[in-house]
Amino acid sequence: MSEKELLKTNALETDNDDDDDTVCLGESFFIDNNYEVATFTFGSHVLHLLCLQSASTDFDLTGQLVWPGARLLNDYISNHSDLLQGSSSAIELGSGVGVTGILCSRFCRQVVLTDHNDEILKKNIELYESSENSNSCAAGKLTSLSQNSVPPLFDTVKQLLSQRGKDRCRFILAYVSRSKMMDVMVTKEAIGHGLQIHEIDGTRSVISNLEGVIYEITL
Ligand SMILES: C[S@@+](CC[C@H](N)C(=O)[O-])C[C@H]1O[C@@H](n2cnc3c(N)ncnc32)[C@H](O)[C@@H]1O
Repeated sequence: MSEKELLKTNALETDNDDDDDTVCLGESFFIDNNYEVATFTFGSHVLHLLCLQSASTDFDLTGQLVWPGARLLNDYISNHSDLLQGSSSAIELGSGVGVTGILCSRFCRQVVLTDHNDEILKKNIELYESSENSNSCAAGKLTSLSQNSVPPLFDTVKQLLSQRGKDRCRFILAYVSRSKMMDVMVTKEAIGHGLQIHEIDGTRSVISNLEGVIYEITL
C-alpha cells in the first residue's frame, strides 16, 4: 500500500470512529414531562390543570408553566366575564398549558388554543373535557411564526382582526414587562401594523414582582 493510500485509509477510519461516537438525542430527552395537577383559582373559577411545578433547565420550558401574564389575564377575564359572555369564539396565541383558553371556554361557544409545543396543551384539554361538560376546545399548532418574535405575532393579530371585521373581533394582550426595549417594541410593532393599542384602565399591576398591564388592540 502506498503512503498516500495508507493516509486515505486512516482518514476513513477516523471518520468512522467519529460516527461511532455520535449520539443523537431527540427533543424529548431534554423535556421534563413530570407534570402534576395544580389548582388555579381566578375569582369564582377553579381549574385543575397539568403543569410543571418549578423551573428547571429544560430545552423548552416556556409553555409548561403558568406565566404571570396568564394569571393577570385570567383574573381580568373572571372579573369581566361580560367581555366574553355570548361570544361565539376565541383564539389564544401561545397558550402554554392552556389556562387562559380553558377559562375562556366557560364563556365562549368555541375556543382554539394554539402553541408550537402542544404536548401539555393537548393533555390539559383532554383532562378538562373529561372533568366537566365543557364547551368545545381545540388545540391548534402554530408553526408559521418564529419563536419569541413580536412582528409575526402582530402579523397574525392583524390578519385575524381584518378577517373578522372591526366590530366583531378584538385582541386582548396581557403584557408583563421584562425590559424597556421590549416595552417599546410591542407598542411600536402594533402601531407599525396600523393597529391601535389602548391600555385598559385599572389593569396595571405588579405580578410576581414585575409590572403587568392589559392592552386592547383593535384595527
Ligand atoms: C411565555 S409562554 C406563555 C404561556 C401562557 N400563555 C402563559 O401565560 O402561561 C409563551 C408561549 O408561547 C409559545 N410560543 C412562542 N412563540 C410561538 C410561536 N412562534 N408560535 C406558537 N407558539 C409560540 C411558547 O411555546 C409558550 O408556550
